[in-house]
Amino acid sequence: MPNQKMAIAIDGPAASGKSSTAKAVAKTLGFHHVDSGSLYRAATTARARAGGEPSTWTEQSVLDAAAIVSLAPTEFGFKPLLDGHEVESEMRSEAVTGNVSLVAKMPRVRDWVNSIVRQAGSEYDVVVDGRDIGTVVFPNASLKVFLTADPAERARRRLLERSGGEPSAADIDEETKKILLRDEMDAKQSGQAPDAILIDTTSLAQVEQIEKIVELGREATG
Ligand code: DC
Repeated sequence: MPNQKMAIAIDGPAASGKSSTAKAVAKTLGFHHVDSGSLYRAATTARARAGGEPSTWTEQSVLDAAAIVSLAPTEFGFKPLLDGHEVESEMRSEAVTGNVSLVAKMPRVRDWVNSIVRQAGSEYDVVVDGRDIGTVVFPNASLKVFLTADPAERARRRLLERSGGEPSAADIDEETKKILLRDEMDAKQSGQAPDAILIDTTSLAQVEQIEKIVELGREATG
């Protein structure tokens, strides 16, 4: 493992607000944000472009396709590029979201993501969000946070973010089912480190959760 600077790990289930929180925490503390899920999404996007039924994708074919993925610096962190181009909306599409768990289960793809994330952590102080950051990627992180929220509240926030308006109860129900399915598909790769601080954000406003983690981050990194 390359030398590590300071790392703050933020793990949690799908749609728990990890990435937006991690980004804001990084910005406030002057750290760099790394969204590890975006690398799994970039690898999935690259592999999907190469064609073929997802059920036939081999680990090697994902790694070969992912050779065009690079991590570019942004103002407060990094974002993945494919062949030097931004792929944010493609990476967040339903098609990629539907297949990314499959790719994230591949051990050598996990090694590939982890080495990129650790490399960033050897060069910068980082706030990294994901599923296994506190357990596997940075077990010695200065601070580990595990974010959680009721599935229906996670669904409501996700829909609100997507459409801007307050979603109906039926839409929340449908989205909750999708989120629970994703939790189940990602369960094996996800974990709360024993020394992580659990924050249930169900009834917290986003600014409150950010403030709380910034405060913990300041205490932990001095
Ligand atoms: O957080 P997200 O929805 O962007 O994550 C995309 C996928 O990658 C999801 O299936 C979980 C997986 N993932 C993972 O297995 N380990 C991580 N550290 C981050 C994400």
